[in-house]
Amino acid sequence: MADTTQETAQAAKSLHAAANSPQRERMVNALNFLPVDRPPCWLMRQAGRCLPEYRALREKHSFRDLIRTPELASEVTLQPVRRFGFDAAILFSDILVVPEAMGQGFRFQDGGGVKMESEVRDMSDIQELREDGVAERMEYVGAALDLIKQDLNGRAALLGFAGSPWTLANFMLEGGSAKKFGKAKELFKRDRRAYNLLAGKLMAAVTEFLQMQISRGVDAVQIFDSLGGELPAEDFEAASGQWMEMIVARLNGQAPVIVYSKGTRAWNALSKMGANVIGIDHGIALAEAERRLPRDTGLQGNLDPALLSDAEPATVAAETRRLLEQMRDRNGYIFNLGHGVPPSARMENLEALAATIQNFV
Ligand code: CP3
Repeated sequence: MADTTQETAQAAKSLHAAANSPQRERMVNALNFLPVDRPPCWLMRQAGRCLPEYRALREKHSFRDLIRTPELASEVTLQPVRRFGFDAAILFSDILVVPEAMGQGFRFQDGGGVKMESEVRDMSDIQELREDGVAERMEYVGAALDLIKQDLNGRAALLGFAGSPWTLANFMLEGGSAKKFGKAKELFKRDRRAYNLLAGKLMAAVTEFLQMQISRGVDAVQIFDSLGGELPAEDFEAASGQWMEMIVARLNGQAPVIVYSKGTRAWNALSKMGANVIGIDHGIALAEAERRLPRDTGLQGNLDPALLSDAEPATVAAETRRLLEQMRDRNGYIFNLGHGVPPSARMENLEALAATIQNFV
């Protein structure tokens, strides 16, 4: 009896200690614009094809099985945290699970890229998409998050995510990856009613999905607006910005929100989004982004991802250090790349990056 009590007390203590791990605390503090000992670090697309341990699992399981089986999703989510000691883990999933839950399935092609099972073409296709009840149809993500929380045990912060309505609309209208994304822009210009119906349904679905992730305990959520920069500056607000703003407003501060809108330079729209943190791509200097955004906005970014494949570890370390020096003592700074880790990233370069940040004083 005494033993059990002692064991329980010990388990509770280690859980508590883990819940307050320096990694998680650092990330949560930066998300809340509080001082940190050094900037926290995670990388977009940190799980996946750059890791040998991911590739080994992928030999045995399809991507669909990886994201739909909680044990596998948790394993892949934890792989980069284990290997590099990052301060945050990101749920292993994909932005296309939302269109899938609305009725438009997808698969990955052997040669790379993604193919949707059908295309959204016109008003009647848009009307058929089901935005209500998406969270129930995505309960497999909730189950994965429950297990990830348990396995992670507070060793790092946990991030949830979703694609932005604009970015998802592009994939849905193209029917998958495209060399040139033109159809969503075309619909936005030609038939605003149809575009707004689609974006509104996506806004509702994404909000419900993110709310579900927050209710399962993620520390923050990131909205990937990876195609934001495809828009001319004067259309950004109407086609993408306002829908993300609505999502942020509906989440109502339940968890910090990071908005990553690649290539977007519509600073006013980004400034009034209500996001805690704005993700910055490598097409602009961090110092410049800092001047353009309100002083109390968190910033995330923006090492050039190509360095991870093409440069030597010493170069990666030097460039990482340069960004850290630029942002020294700035509250709300989170180290990341300007876009996702390329599949060809070299392990020694990821190690050099992680070591540089972890030894930064
Ligand atoms: O960041 C992470 O580690 C979490 C997992 C994650 C994936 N995709 C896994 C994935 C996240 C956050 C995403 C986001 C995502 N997915 C975006 C936005 C970010 C960005 O890079 O701009 C987009 C546009 C997608 C859509 C997508 N997913 C495409 C077009 C493709 C095919 C091309 C490609 O990159 O392979 C994917 C596949 C995908 N998503 C893989 C992984 C690990 C590769 C799947 C495999 O193992 O073959």
